[in-house]
Amino acid sequence: MTDFNSYLLYNNTIETIQPDEQEISQKIVDSMARVNRLMYEKYRHAIRDAHSKSHAILKGELQVYENLPVHITQGLFSIPKKYPIIVRFSTAQGSIVPDKMSAFRGMAIKIIGVEGEKLLPELSDALTQDFLLVNYPIIPTGIIKEYLKMQEGLESQANRGELFQKVAQKAAVEVQNVLAAVGLADDTNELSAPGPHVLGDTYFSMAALRFGDYVAKINVKPLSENVKALSGKKIDNEIIEEDENAFLTRIISDFFQTGIAEYEMGAQLCTDLEIMPVEDGSVQWPEDKSPYQPVARISFQPQQTFSPERRVYADDVLSFNPFHCLPEHRPLGNIMRVRKLAYETSSKFRHHMNAQPGSNQKVLKSYRIK
Ligand code: HEM
Repeated sequence: MTDFNSYLLYNNTIETIQPDEQEISQKIVDSMARVNRLMYEKYRHAIRDAHSKSHAILKGELQVYENLPVHITQGLFSIPKKYPIIVRFSTAQGSIVPDKMSAFRGMAIKIIGVEGEKLLPELSDALTQDFLLVNYPIIPTGIIKEYLKMQEGLESQANRGELFQKVAQKAAVEVQNVLAAVGLADDTNELSAPGPHVLGDTYFSMAALRFGDYVAKINVKPLSENVKALSGKKIDNEIIEEDENAFLTRIISDFFQTGIAEYEMGAQLCTDLEIMPVEDGSVQWPEDKSPYQPVARISFQPQQTFSPERRVYADDVLSFNPFHCLPEHRPLGNIMRVRKLAYETSSKFRHHMNAQPGSNQKVLKSYRIK
């Protein structure tokens, strides 16, 4: 067990601005925005620059655990409170691709009723806080220089329709193979490998964030036996063949016709910047040096996970942003810093083109989605 004295204390010298960071970051955001305009022309509807396709929009609850060890009671996790949440499951591509394609899957969580001033000035008095997670422990393009290369590759293919999807897929397939090697995914290297059941996956912040006095990565993993049983489970071929485009929507919806699911949120605290760097999101922090420590339970009751109202609300109205948080949970490192402008740009364009009321989470006046 790690002694709490060995956790690295957060201070403002933990982050290091990279050479040419501003220029590289701007190039990434500009390239994403150009591709996004092409996607707007394709669909005549504005979608997210990334994670455009929703699979489910869930209402749930997040209960911060009682009696947490003192060192882990930080920020949002300081008091054992229960919060309503909205969760959006998505696929990583910035275009609407068939579910049959390999891809990272996203889990965006909006926690409602979080008091205290928030980081983004325009949302400083919002009563929400977001966490954005993906079903892989690291971001392979973990520094902005690498991310720019990948993004430029995507853009150069973007005009060529399907090829654009294939570049994004290729990265996902490589990841799939790594997961397969450790028994966490299908052992296929096909470009059409949908991966295991999304409800059985573990989702990660991939890169670091502040955790009050400390620095951490966050995850959410299956807790109840029914979702644990889906971990690494292949999706039924029959279901895939019946609906290659949208079987993920279907399997989540089928599950929640009657199912109740529980997940656990954990925080992996940094002990040593040499082996757990903040400025390179492609490095996996070793769990034998610092395991994920439970901080909260997430639970979902049976519900309609993809009603037209929910889809429109999640796709067109809502925004999730890693910088929309308490200052105690600010994202850290260059791959996180670039996200500030990226999400703002994507969200503004989407709301403007779809004539929706701004990218402002304050539109989340209630928890009314049906
Ligand atoms: C570091 C790990 C990352 C994680 C865990 C992550 C996760 C996610 C998730 C879950 C979503 C969907 C949010 C939703 O449902 O609305 C999303 C959207 C998005 N991501 Fe990331 N992402 C990461 C890195 C990046 C990077 C490096 C960039 C670009 C520089 C980026 C750009 C975007 C954009 C533009 C959106 C759409 C925002 C909107 O229009 O509302 N992400 N991300």
